[in-house]
Amino acid sequence: MDKNSLSPYLDTTLESLALPVDCTYPVYKGKVRDIVDLGKNMVITTSDRISAFDRVLSTIPCKGQVLNELSLFWFEQTNDIIGNHILKKISPRTVAGRKCSVLPIEVVVRGYLTGSAWRDYQQGKAISGIVLPPNLKSNHKFDTPLFTPSTKEEKGKHDLPISSDEIINQGIVKKALLEKIESTALKLFQRGTEIAARNGLILVDTKYEFGLLGDDLYLVDEVHTPDSSRYWYADTYAALYEKGEKQRELDKEYLRQWLIGQDFMGDGNAPEIPDDIRLEVALRYITAYETITGQTFVPSKVNAAEELKLVTSAMEAYK
Ligand SMILES: Nc1ncnc2c1ncn2[C@@H]1O[C@H](COP(=O)(O)OP(=O)(O)O)[C@@H](O)[C@H]1O
Ligand SMILES: [Mg+2]
Repeated sequence: MDKNSLSPYLDTTLESLALPVDCTYPVYKGKVRDIVDLGKNMVITTSDRISAFDRVLSTIPCKGQVLNELSLFWFEQTNDIIGNHILKKISPRTVAGRKCSVLPIEVVVRGYLTGSAWRDYQQGKAISGIVLPPNLKSNHKFDTPLFTPSTKEEKGKHDLPISSDEIINQGIVKKALLEKIESTALKLFQRGTEIAARNGLILVDTKYEFGLLGDDLYLVDEVHTPDSSRYWYADTYAALYEKGEKQRELDKEYLRQWLIGQDFMGDGNAPEIPDDIRLEVALRYITAYETITGQTFVPSKVNAAEELKLVTSAMEAYK
């Protein structure tokens, strides 16, 4: 894939599902996903919308398909560790899933000291209640990955780190359940790390969402995608770490850096993202898909009208 062969998809990018206004089911629009709530089940379409600094800024050709198919890959690779919400793949961008009661914490696991954890560490703060030793360098590899949950804040606000004790003491999640979540998240991260390593990547950190169905814990939402995770190239890690340089990334960092270069960090008017940058970002998502799965990415031919038809018949089948 190159930018030229991707440019036709600039025109077919899915901003949103055009669901009829008289749709009898509640429809929820997240930053990235359009969700039809059928009661017991849901139809989830991953759009091509991209958010950065918690703001939706543009669409990226093929992104919805990359995220959906990459999550499906990872759900399959991890279903011996924990069950997940997937019922069926409806289209390259859409799945039918079980509706769960999503737990109100972002389950973050970190293998390396980077991103917001590094910024907090530099300011002398603990990381979700975990006090780290002094004099660590940026991008330091932890001996064992850290469980560093954060709160789930409302739209527009940034999630905040929270310690396991605070989660329990504030009655957000009970102790036994939180212990199960922690051990499951660490197993998932271990699996993710192993599979990424086969393909020359480091799974640096990630965010999981868990939900309950009765007493059963399920993995929901998305898993190990470039939207929810950081990936670095393994072969250059050590040399760059030694030199104290930036790692080679395969995630959303490219767009974040471009935005920062335009003086945008989430507040005020967002710059318009030129097509050339959108294509560059698309290529990176596709490269992530291909590197992680070892499979060639085939862009979907399902257009927005056909997507809506598939969603509508899935609504009948899974209501
Ligand atoms: N199986 C599920 N049951 C209920 N809610 C879910 C399930 N899977 C994902 N969700 C929720 O659907 C939303 C996904 O849409 P997304 O665009 O990613 O939202 P956000 O802007 O919150 O990231 C999230 O709020 C997520 O918690
Ligand atoms: Mg999300």
